[in-house]
Amino acid sequence: MTSAIRIGIVTVSDRASAGVYADEGGPAIEAYLGRALASPWDKVARIIPDDRALIARTLSALADEEGCCLIVTTGGTGPAPRDVTPEATEDVVDKPMPGFGELMRQVSLAKVPTAILSRQTAGIRGRSLIVNLPGRPRAIAECLDAVMPAIPYCIDLIGGPYLETDPEVIKAFRPAVR
Ligand code: MTE
Repeated sequence: MTSAIRIGIVTVSDRASAGVYADEGGPAIEAYLGRALASPWDKVARIIPDDRALIARTLSALADEEGCCLIVTTGGTGPAPRDVTPEATEDVVDKPMPGFGELMRQVSLAKVPTAILSRQTAGIRGRSLIVNLPGRPRAIAECLDAVMPAIPYCIDLIGGPYLETDPEVIKAFRPAVR
């Protein structure tokens, strides 16, 4: 049986998509969500090259056709010429959510000075929250630890499914109803 909660995991990398090296980012995200989420969920995984139009099409399809309430990307957020994941994300979101990138850069800066090179962003498309993570597997957990507590409530607010976390790993914060 498939569960109602679908989460898109998009690895953006010329080399991983060509099979030059194994994708480590996608599996790192999957392992993290496997630990953090208590609700059953299904992954919809994609590995694609650093092509702005293709990234935009992939994100739109995961939101509109695959019905993913959350779509996380890894890779392509740096300053190199082929790094265009934030631009592709901005191309498809209705509403930017700048707080995600701000917080992730802030926590990452405590670990590495090059955190300011990350242009990662986030936004809402319909009933989907799209969040960029950096490419390095270690950075993925650091960034998800920071933003994950706010993600379930964000998905509530856009009319998505009720995401429960394992409080031993991540405490989801939902403000008290007024
Ligand atoms: N964030 C954390 N926590 N740890 C890191 O090692 N690397 C930075 C940054 N954010 C890093 C980090 C570097 S070197 C770059 S270039 C950017 O993320 C973008 O990486 P990407 O293009 O692989 O997404």
